[in-house]
Amino acid sequence: MLTAPDPESHVYDKPPAHANADWTIDQNWSAYSAEEHATWDTLFARQREMLPGRAAQAFLDGVDILHLSKPGIPDFGELNQILMDATGWQVVAVPGLVPDDVFFEHLANRRFVSGNFIRRPDQLDYLQEPDIFHDVFGHVPMLADQRFADYMEAYGRGGLRALKFGTLKQLARLYWYTVEFGLIQEPEGLRIYGAGIVSSFGESVFALDSDSPNRIMFDLERVLRTEYRIDDFQQNYFVIPSLDELLRVTVETDFKPVYEKIAEMPDIAIADIVKGDVVLTRGTQQHPSAQSDKAIII
Ligand code: PHE
Ligand code: FE
Repeated sequence: MLTAPDPESHVYDKPPAHANADWTIDQNWSAYSAEEHATWDTLFARQREMLPGRAAQAFLDGVDILHLSKPGIPDFGELNQILMDATGWQVVAVPGLVPDDVFFEHLANRRFVSGNFIRRPDQLDYLQEPDIFHDVFGHVPMLADQRFADYMEAYGRGGLRALKFGTLKQLARLYWYTVEFGLIQEPEGLRIYGAGIVSSFGESVFALDSDSPNRIMFDLERVLRTEYRIDDFQQNYFVIPSLDELLRVTVETDFKPVYEKIAEMPDIAIADIVKGDVVLTRGTQQHPSAQSDKAIII
């Protein structure tokens, strides 16, 4: 059956006509409406109030360094001047999700791709595709931290390698459980740094306070083997001891032999605890999301 393309979809299989060959487009900042700026401000105010005591120090510092509390959707021109000085990163606008090789190529060159559209006012809490609030508020503050900045560049190069090895599925799990849904141990306790958490009103509480999910110390091989769900709150979070340690273990490890080794091993089902896990909290898995049999698992 043929279905009409969703006019609101931001998924393309080749750069749309208005995009450059590397899929970037002009952010076209002056075209945002007052309502769109107000949506940003609403989302920003909600997260800003909740995140002290919850978000990682590096994230909170990044929000300050980048002046994200300035009202309205950030203008990438302005943002990039500060970000470039801090860590040599830039944010570039794209029309929506881009192909893997394009994404990795940008990361490897210290360019973070961001959607330029913002969710509608009736979508504050849930949205399928990353919008500018998720991409900029969620991801960019951490890119002002030197260690995380280096990690993301290395991840981009690792992505290009994984494409050659056919191991993207495994490497994508590392991104998911660190960049998107990572927790970190800080002197005062666990904190969130993953963009999928810090940009979500519900999950920024759930990830730290709920007794439903597991919280397990980060182990590279374990993470590369662990399935994840993309449709609801996570059932597992992996906790890094520090950003230095995350950077060290991922950069110093050649993933090729790891991919070869784990190819012989089964994947780890989403909420399973396995031998060798250092479990900080064993989840009850009682949250409704964990009880649903319709989870979209990757
Ligand atoms: N060291 C990894 C490799 O050999 C690359 C990588 C670095 C991946 C940092 C993720 C993060 O492929
Ligand atoms: Fe993201």
